[in-house]
Amino acid sequence: MNKLLVSLLLTLGITGAANAAEPIKGDAAAGQAKTAVCGACHNPDGNSLAPNFPKLAGQGDRYLLKQLHEIKDGKRTVLEMTGMLTAFSDQDLADIAAYFSSQKGSVGAADPKLVERGRELFNGGNLEKGLPACTGCHSPNGAGLALAGFPHLGGQHASYVAKQLTDFREGNRTNDGDAMTMRTIAGKLSNKDIEALSSYIQGLH
Ligand code: HEC
Ligand code: HEC
Repeated sequence: MNKLLVSLLLTLGITGAANAAEPIKGDAAAGQAKTAVCGACHNPDGNSLAPNFPKLAGQGDRYLLKQLHEIKDGKRTVLEMTGMLTAFSDQDLADIAAYFSSQKGSVGAADPKLVERGRELFNGGNLEKGLPACTGCHSPNGAGLALAGFPHLGGQHASYVAKQLTDFREGNRTNDGDAMTMRTIAGKLSNKDIEALSSYIQGLH
């Protein structure tokens, strides 16, 4: 494993332990009843059809819950969702996360012209630039590591993924913790890298 990845994992491990006190357990059935308003953009089962709206189906519940709290508190800006989570309690958010997490995620297709470069970067990183492989945290099939809060990426819309990587790189998304894991990683990606990775991820499963 390369040094950068090890140090990132260590920092994340420490942060992860501090956040581990998550006493609220989500109830998927109760969550479904609370997601009527979400379906318009994310689809009722969480497999959104529009490429700029992320798929939530099959996403790890720890990651989902973190995003929901941070979108609610304004730590992550999602203009389309302004005010939408205000009335939800911590229990409601845990239920919603459990519901979308329990759904089966759909998979798209990669652009054949980009797949080779995307696969290389995803699996191998770039030694010269000090870029770690994505697989270390998001796993080779893109499933992520739910318990650690490493998000599932496989099958996610390429446009959404590209926007996140660009937002991390430009500092427009800053909720990746004090270790700045994804901001550091995305800072090493060119636009062409982002295009190839996003396309590869869309077809990954
Ligand atoms: C009007 C459209 C719209 C509605 C309605 C909406 N969302 Fe979103 N949501 C978005 C967009 C757009 C993003 C991604 C923004 C970005 O690019 O960072 C997002 C992001 C998210 C994310 C982060 C996903 C990830 O992979 O990081 C979660 C979780 C989420 N929404 C949950 C919900 C829930 C739960 C509801 C219902 C209470 C809801 N959304 C309603 C548009 C919407
Ligand atoms: C050291 C672990 C680690 C490595 C290596 C890593 N990531 Fe991440 N990634 C994370 C974590 C943790 C998050 C969630 C940040 C948060 O909580 O908002 C994340 C979030 C993301 C997201 C946003 C997901 C969403 O639904 O919004 C994308 C896209 C992403 N990573 C792509 C990549 C790519 C591409 C690579 C390889 C170039 C990579 N990551 C390497 C840990 C990692």
